[in-house]
Amino acid sequence: MAKAPRDQWKSKIGFILAASGSAIGLGNIVFFSANAYRFGAGAFYIPYLVALVLLGIPVMMMELGLGHRAQRGFPEAMYQSAGVKGEWVGWFGLLNASVITMYYITILGWVLGMLIGAFGSLWQPMAVAAFGIEKGVLSNSMAHFFDMISRGDTIAYVLIVWILNVSAVWWGTKSIERWVKVCVPLMWLFMFILILRGITLPNGTQGLLLLFTPNFEVMKDPEVWQGAFSQIFFTLSLGFGIMATYASYLPKKSDQPTNALTISFLNCSFEYAAGIAIFSLLFCFAIVPRASTLSMTFFVIPEGIGAFPVGAQLFGVLFFALLLMAGITSSVSLIEAVGAGIIDKFGFSRRKTLLVISIIGAAGSCCFAIPTVIDPVLRSNGTLGLSLLDLFDHWAFSYGLLTCGFLECIFIGWVLGAHKLRASLNEHSRIRIGPIWDWMIKIVIPLVILLVLGNSLRQEFRNGLYGSALETGRLVNLHVLVLALYLAFTIGGAFVLTGAGVYHRRRKRRAAILLDEENR
Ligand code: PHE
Repeated sequence: MAKAPRDQWKSKIGFILAASGSAIGLGNIVFFSANAYRFGAGAFYIPYLVALVLLGIPVMMMELGLGHRAQRGFPEAMYQSAGVKGEWVGWFGLLNASVITMYYITILGWVLGMLIGAFGSLWQPMAVAAFGIEKGVLSNSMAHFFDMISRGDTIAYVLIVWILNVSAVWWGTKSIERWVKVCVPLMWLFMFILILRGITLPNGTQGLLLLFTPNFEVMKDPEVWQGAFSQIFFTLSLGFGIMATYASYLPKKSDQPTNALTISFLNCSFEYAAGIAIFSLLFCFAIVPRASTLSMTFFVIPEGIGAFPVGAQLFGVLFFALLLMAGITSSVSLIEAVGAGIIDKFGFSRRKTLLVISIIGAAGSCCFAIPTVIDPVLRSNGTLGLSLLDLFDHWAFSYGLLTCGFLECIFIGWVLGAHKLRASLNEHSRIRIGPIWDWMIKIVIPLVILLVLGNSLRQEFRNGLYGSALETGRLVNLHVLVLALYLAFTIGGAFVLTGAGVYHRRRKRRAAILLDEENR
């Protein structure tokens, strides 16, 4: 039986919209600004640019080149390039991506809840009391958020977001393209409106100055650099083979270095645009948020919008709709990458694979939405779901992402040989990539990542294992349990899937030999 031809993007613009839609997500709209606030605005954007040039663009080229060359999902592409150990890295990446997908979608469920609130109740003073804390003690948006996550309805929001995601990936590139053609231009439009609103507020331009006045003093702090290096991987959707998967649906004659530059440029422009909107908006009301990214999304920005002289409701709806669209075009890419990895390896049908992934994924997302209150005075996270999310995010984001990126560079750089991938990148490229790229992939980037990871580990030893200080009520050692689960799922799971892959491949080979003998 002839093999069905591989799914392909209908147009180049469809691919660029989808890949930039994957890159542009919660990371751009709130994490960037939250980091910029934490590290001192003027101190962040320069390290961020350096991270983009040093790590972001070369790794983006590597991932696009890898997927395009192999025309396969991430584990298979890694297998073709670097053998069984490479395949393990591929599965490890995808399992990390699965963890992120689960909690990313839970956050999107909350965004949906806030979007519904933004039509009314979010702006009514002291509309709700959360956790039995008296009305009026928490800010309005905080009370609204904690009230929402401590009720079971959030589970429904999470399931709705899953259904939206599955409907977007169901028909492969065809349905993804249809979604991104609507969502990505709308995201830019909404962002543009928010910027206009921000900079026309009294003092709004002060926020801009704050964002773009370099602060070299703070830049001496290694933490600022560490923040920028982790942010660049997350924001460009690198490390998990997402870009490799999207590039595997490109025709043979396409130009990956130019694609990498275009996607990175679009992503970073959006990031700065969001920085401008949020800084001008918040500075105007002199709100200096605590750094946490979730609090930025759910409390600080809505508070700023709530203080608008006119149109708070309209801009609130606009902001949460923007977040939801940007988030879904990212989560879709995560689900597609995991699905493609399984389909390309085991040859299962697309529908069945997606159904199984989404049932497991939705169950995981629901765990992050468990409404049980474990910390009623809100010393740390409040509900069990939110605490689980915080803990898993710590491991998958601060370690998983960079570890995958590191291993990918090592296997492509040293096992396949960076020059081989460069040759295939240069084949159809308008820009020529020089040999310096090889050394970036082989030495510079792995070293930078090792430094960042080493520094994180040192903090872990110095301050105690992450989460040991969290308030978790009677659930002692929740942080240890989460770490064990995370390691078993990603590292153990990758062994199982690679092993199953080896078994599957042997079986296929044996069947081919038998068929050959019969034919003879
Ligand atoms: N890049 C997305 C964002 O900025 C998140 C993401 C990370 C998506 C990793 C896919 C893979 O929000």
